[in-house]
Amino acid sequence: MNKVRLGLIGVGTVGRGVFDVLNRNREEICRRTGYEIVVSAATARDLKKARGFLGPTIKLHEDPLDVVRDENVDIVIELVGGVTTARSVIEASIALAKPVVTANKALIAEHGNELFALAKISGSIVAFEAAVAGGIPIIKSLREGLTANRIQSVAGILNGTTNFILSEMRARGLSFQDALSDAQRLGYAESDPTFDIEGIDAGQKLAIIAALSFGIPIQAERVYCEGITQLTEGDIRAAEDFGYRVKLLAITKRRANGFEMRVHPTLVPHDCVIASVDGAMNAVLVRGDAVGETLYYGAGAGAEPTASAVIADLVDVIRLQGVAACAQVPYFAFQTDRLSDVPILDMGEVECSCYLRVRVRDESGVLANIAGILAEQGVSIEVMRQRESNGSHAGVDIVIFTHKTNERSINHALKKIDALDSVVEKPVRLRIETF
Ligand code: NDP
Ligand code: HSE
Repeated sequence: MNKVRLGLIGVGTVGRGVFDVLNRNREEICRRTGYEIVVSAATARDLKKARGFLGPTIKLHEDPLDVVRDENVDIVIELVGGVTTARSVIEASIALAKPVVTANKALIAEHGNELFALAKISGSIVAFEAAVAGGIPIIKSLREGLTANRIQSVAGILNGTTNFILSEMRARGLSFQDALSDAQRLGYAESDPTFDIEGIDAGQKLAIIAALSFGIPIQAERVYCEGITQLTEGDIRAAEDFGYRVKLLAITKRRANGFEMRVHPTLVPHDCVIASVDGAMNAVLVRGDAVGETLYYGAGAGAEPTASAVIADLVDVIRLQGVAACAQVPYFAFQTDRLSDVPILDMGEVECSCYLRVRVRDESGVLANIAGILAEQGVSIEVMRQRESNGSHAGVDIVIFTHKTNERSINHALKKIDALDSVVEKPVRLRIETF
């Protein structure tokens, strides 16, 4: 039996998951590939800890680049995270024409365009299924399964940590901080959780999805990102009272004059499928012109779900040995010389219905002033309701649901409302999506 020898760079949550699943499903995977897969070399920062986990036979290197250069390594698995070391590892693998599998969305979002170009020149492969939506095979679906379609939109819950936090806050009344600590303990969060809670991780994944959906370069810097740190339990409850759940959605849409790419907390009707996606689960809703709507659901984070995607890539890479580059699925799902330069739209050009909450002193004329400002900006009100104070704060909350409104108009209106004497706190605005 021929062997494929892996270099495992990173023996953390995902690295361990990969090692465990490869060992447990050795026979099954061997029947699929025709090869025995072994980890022959590895690295981590703490080599003693890695040795304790990996056992005595695997060669450990201090320098990740020595794993890449190790002559007993055929395929590199990059699972260190971050951008600096990971980028050197992938560039070195490409230079040596060794295929590399990565779960690193930060790296692909920031440097994917260059790395794919380099890989194409050297005839190497960079596989990244695990970088988006953990165990859900969304990259494969977009690049292969939906290839007949003109994709119209993709909307998803792409970050397990924030979905877990929002679910725990809603269902168990946990504070944001307690729910975040639980997510970190369970291995869902990035080493710097700011990436999760500020929407950056979801934004990086969205940029990759948009590139594959529309055949455009990856443009992570053009994603509008708003996280969940400003979200209060009060708004989650108010949304619930009006029949909505709050989810951190990553949305990309084809519009006549460009593409939208945005991540923000979003009110979704409680009876739509995405509203019931709880915990660290992810879901991706893709709308194509031929297929209509398709929905992908599964674990978006965690050791073994992510390992499932890493190993799926590994199996693909093994199967692609000897296949000419021109016969392989292109990185962006579109031929690299046929990428589109249609622009990403500014957030100001987006149109959404909105939930607004304005805390005001309970005095006459306030409602009329707010309604007047909204009317001035052409913002049409669907519902306006006063919620009584629970006694823990001064003032009352005015909750407003608007009809679909241009982002610029609502921004102007909110600025004016905030400046009213009777408004006692910065108004809250959450966008609404219905599916
Ligand atoms: P961890 O922090 O759990 O593990 C990182 C591993 O890399 C550790 O073994 C660490 O060493 C090692 N490492 C870090 N820096 C270096 C370095 N400079 N040199 C050598 N080794 C280094 O991360 P995860 O496993 O959670 O994530 C890995 C990648 O997978 C990231 O890109 C992440 O975004 C992605 N990902 C993670 C998911 C998850 O659910 N956790 C899901 C999908 C993708 P040591 O053990 O000594 O600290
Ligand atoms: N921190 C990420 C999440 C890991 O919570 O979804 C998966 O990419």
